[in-house]
Amino acid sequence: MKQIKIIGNQTLTGTITVSGSKNSALALIPASILCDEQVTIDNVPKISDIEALNEILTYLGAKVTRENGAMAIDSSTIVNKEIPEEISKKLRASYYFMSALLGKYKKVEMYFPGGCKIGARPIDQTLKGFRALGAKVIEKDNKYTVFADKLIGARVYLDMPSVGATINTILVAVKAEGETIIENAAKEPEIVNVVTFLNNMGANIRGAGTSTIRITGVNYLKKCYIEVIPDRIEAGTYVIAGALIGKNLKIDKIIPEHIEALILKLKEMGFDMNINPDNLIISTKNNLKPIKVTTLGYPGFATDLQQPMTALLTKCNGESIIDETIYENRFQNVPYLNQMGANIKVSEDNRKIIIKGETKLNGAKVKATDLRAGACLVLAGLVAEGQTIIEESEHILRGFEKIVDKLQAVGAKIEIEEI
Ligand code: EPU
Repeated sequence: MKQIKIIGNQTLTGTITVSGSKNSALALIPASILCDEQVTIDNVPKISDIEALNEILTYLGAKVTRENGAMAIDSSTIVNKEIPEEISKKLRASYYFMSALLGKYKKVEMYFPGGCKIGARPIDQTLKGFRALGAKVIEKDNKYTVFADKLIGARVYLDMPSVGATINTILVAVKAEGETIIENAAKEPEIVNVVTFLNNMGANIRGAGTSTIRITGVNYLKKCYIEVIPDRIEAGTYVIAGALIGKNLKIDKIIPEHIEALILKLKEMGFDMNINPDNLIISTKNNLKPIKVTTLGYPGFATDLQQPMTALLTKCNGESIIDETIYENRFQNVPYLNQMGANIKVSEDNRKIIIKGETKLNGAKVKATDLRAGACLVLAGLVAEGQTIIEESEHILRGFEKIVDKLQAVGAKIEIEEI
């Protein structure tokens, strides 16, 4: 087990360079197996979720070579076989293999995917997409067997703009016969990154980034190159670190438009930022105004930044509110923040919190229950007085490349230890 130790209240100054997007890379890698030739994916972050996907690629027999941040994947040697439950339950994104294998071989056997325990996270919309295109789904215990004689384009209406269901439906439709139209599609930048990748291979997909995506099936996908976009959630998390305890902290290699909702909320609180085409510079400030945050699909306020933001809202003068509309169980960081001195109440239905500030935070022994809860506790630890120990920090390493090195380099007293 790993734990992160932080001695807080050290000013952060200098530059943090943001890595490639976890959630983009996690979709690009499975998408690569649709290609009939070798692909190269550049700027892949070195995080444990990527290692878990790599394990699936290797298990299936793909040839993977890695150099610096680039991953070359040759899927011509793949054998389409059942993906064991121990591997698929390691992460959510394992189900992108479900759709990529179905799209390529018209058959797949796999188990329910894993991922952070932040809600029920059903996969009904993905299965709806599979069925709409003509696949039969047999569900037994946790296992799914999905097959089709022919995949034929169809109109798919998603009940909610699910990132996973949008990407899964695209991956199945890319080589299907005729046109697929996804209505109420998710608009996240990661989807645009995946579609750019597939179009670079020769796919015919229009409308990514809007709520209607049209895919016309093609037979052959050729070799191509793609770069993973900057991780907007990692970027946002470090921007919040700068807001908490930064002095001209520069968050570099970002796409500011991707964190527009966060930037606007920070402005509402009273922050002035220096925003440039690919970086943002921020310093901490006192007398912050309380705000209301409602999590929404892109371009709304990202649920993945909701927990990190909570650490900052303890610094506002007055009552801030967070309304979490995406997940049912994404406040597991709150008891730990309260233990550190925050004054946060969770509503009875577990969908809203009220943060009363300003409260000073003190170091404590806390636990990362999930990735973004862990990120919140790192931020709280950075600003708290004294020592914070975050147990079960493996969750944090799933999504943050070199988090300890990056924070140390800007002045944080932070280390990770094996216990
Ligand atoms: N939903 C359904 N049925 C479905 C699909 C989704 O009810 O078939 C519900 C989910 O339960 C959830 C909501 O719809 O309440 C949104 O889920 P979505 O499918 O959009 O999320 P996801 O694809 O499972 C990705 C990210 C998450 C991020 C969400 C929302 C990956 C691997 N994961 O999850 O990232 O929170 O989109 O932006 O891309 C994280 O990085 O910490 C993380 C959890």
